[in-house]
Amino acid sequence: MCGIVGVLGQHEVAPILVEALKRLEYRGYDSAGIATVRTGGTLDRRRATGKLIELSDLLVHDPLPGKSGIGHTRWATHGAPTVGNAHPHQAGPVAVVHNGIIENFRELRVDLARDGYAFSTDTDTETIALVVQRLLDQQVPPIEAAKRAIAELEGAFALCLLFAGEEDLLIAARRGSPLALGHGDGEMFVGSDAIALSPLTNRITYLEEGDLAVMTRQGAEIFDQDGAPAHRDTRILQLDSTWIEKGGHKYYMAKEMSEQPSVIGDTLRFYMGDGDAGITLPGELDFTDLDRVTIVACGTAYYAGLTAKYWFEKLARLPVEVDIASEFRYREPPLPQKSLAIFVSQSGETADTLAALRYVAGTGGKIASVVNVPESSIARESNVVLPTQAGVEIGVASTKAFTCQLTVLALLALKAAQQRGTLTDEELRQHAANLRALPGAMNQALALAPEIAALANELADARDVLFLGRGVMYPTALEGALKLKEISYIHAEGYASGELKHGPIALIDPNVPVVVLAPRDALFEKTVSNMQEVMARQGKVILVSDSAGLDSAREGVWKWIRMPEIDPVFSPILYALPVQQLAYHTAVAKGTDVDQPRNLAKSVTVE
Ligand code: F6R
Repeated sequence: MCGIVGVLGQHEVAPILVEALKRLEYRGYDSAGIATVRTGGTLDRRRATGKLIELSDLLVHDPLPGKSGIGHTRWATHGAPTVGNAHPHQAGPVAVVHNGIIENFRELRVDLARDGYAFSTDTDTETIALVVQRLLDQQVPPIEAAKRAIAELEGAFALCLLFAGEEDLLIAARRGSPLALGHGDGEMFVGSDAIALSPLTNRITYLEEGDLAVMTRQGAEIFDQDGAPAHRDTRILQLDSTWIEKGGHKYYMAKEMSEQPSVIGDTLRFYMGDGDAGITLPGELDFTDLDRVTIVACGTAYYAGLTAKYWFEKLARLPVEVDIASEFRYREPPLPQKSLAIFVSQSGETADTLAALRYVAGTGGKIASVVNVPESSIARESNVVLPTQAGVEIGVASTKAFTCQLTVLALLALKAAQQRGTLTDEELRQHAANLRALPGAMNQALALAPEIAALANELADARDVLFLGRGVMYPTALEGALKLKEISYIHAEGYASGELKHGPIALIDPNVPVVVLAPRDALFEKTVSNMQEVMARQGKVILVSDSAGLDSAREGVWKWIRMPEIDPVFSPILYALPVQQLAYHTAVAKGTDVDQPRNLAKSVTVE
């Protein structure tokens, strides 16, 4: 949430900051701003509400000179998205950009007010600038003032400070939210992630928890959480720029959906190679004696975990508890001795998931994580990291990261089954072959796009849409509803088909489309019965099934989508595609901002 950037450059910095912010816009986009120190030392700023383009326009009419600067793209927490609440926040000779929450800002406000410091915004961030200003007013030099001010802050955050009269100084600090330093030639950069800095440099140093960096054009001096000088490695990152381009697609989401056959292939190869040697995990995980697996995640990643429950329980006969991270973290659940906790996260920075992980770490429990960003906090704090090979995901609605998470979890369930002896070698080989068939089937499913787009045109008028699934398809129904509501703003709910008659069936009328996800598996007939109950009440059914399913049950349904054949166990990985497409084309038909839907942000680093 919120993207921050800082540059000590050799050239005019405003366009560089805006370009970097463009790459961070996925983190929030309700307002944006930059501040610079110009030759002579004057600190000034420009801010605009709305998308970054509004700030770019403003800078055309009202340019901001200077070769040192900071920038911010906001996802509002404290205070409405107004110009006044937009970052950078300035208090006298200091400006700050900030990502996260200052939890003790109320106490600090009272204290500052007592000393005569006045507030002009509703934000927690302004408090940081004022605390620094108060120290500067007491003749404390900028670096020392920054250190002391940051020590007064409570909460999880990343921030960057810029000072009037200091053209060669930036202070960056990380506590809870990620920050990457970039090394140029006689230039230094800082950003919420390395992608923001990728056109500027590939030499990256990741700050660690509690670090503070004093940056000049010659480099950065880093201090750890105890204030002691610290060494952090600098790595050369190979950031493939094709990830951050749209590649001819109108939206990142479209591009990322289309990449699924290839990234699922990459993920399968990462764990299974090209031969028949079985599944190799990148770390030691022994499922043999486990009594339970606990999977914790948020949103779409949670639905990946919910799907995995079916696989672990069916294939490996291993009980699984799945929980939403924001609930798990405060419930303080007892964990059995012989258990494993798995955290699933695309970004690896989701605040609730990270807090839940830290709870398990505090109990001494073993932690594995399924993450897409290997340098992320969740990856770094796990005993075993199981990477997804989805590549950079920029569209706010998760698509390829979700199917890659499912694939890794499917492989993990098979590994558990192998170790626990619950599947024969032949069964394992067959399941592995079924997974390898996925990229091909996904290509066929993607070819259904024109048909789904036509259907979506009709769906776009709906006020409510229901998604039904049974067994392993139930979490896919939940995911279908989430995708649709988050990008098309149509109210949608997912239900276990058998649960419909216990209440939700009251919603059915001729205006409520009902998407039934039903590959022809062992539970197919049961789902079809529930579908009949919907049709008996004039519900408009969209049946998503394979040829065998459609041939036996499509009579009377409103529309159908004919899916490729696949072994039903892993059908959620394939059936994720039509529900993504349905949401995508409905959103396009409604003209919403597909990649940056309202009120959302990609990386949820606040709770
Ligand atoms: C929905 C979506 C979110 C994320 C959730 C967790 O399309 O993307 O629900 O799945 O915010 O994010 P990560 O996976 O980064 O922990």
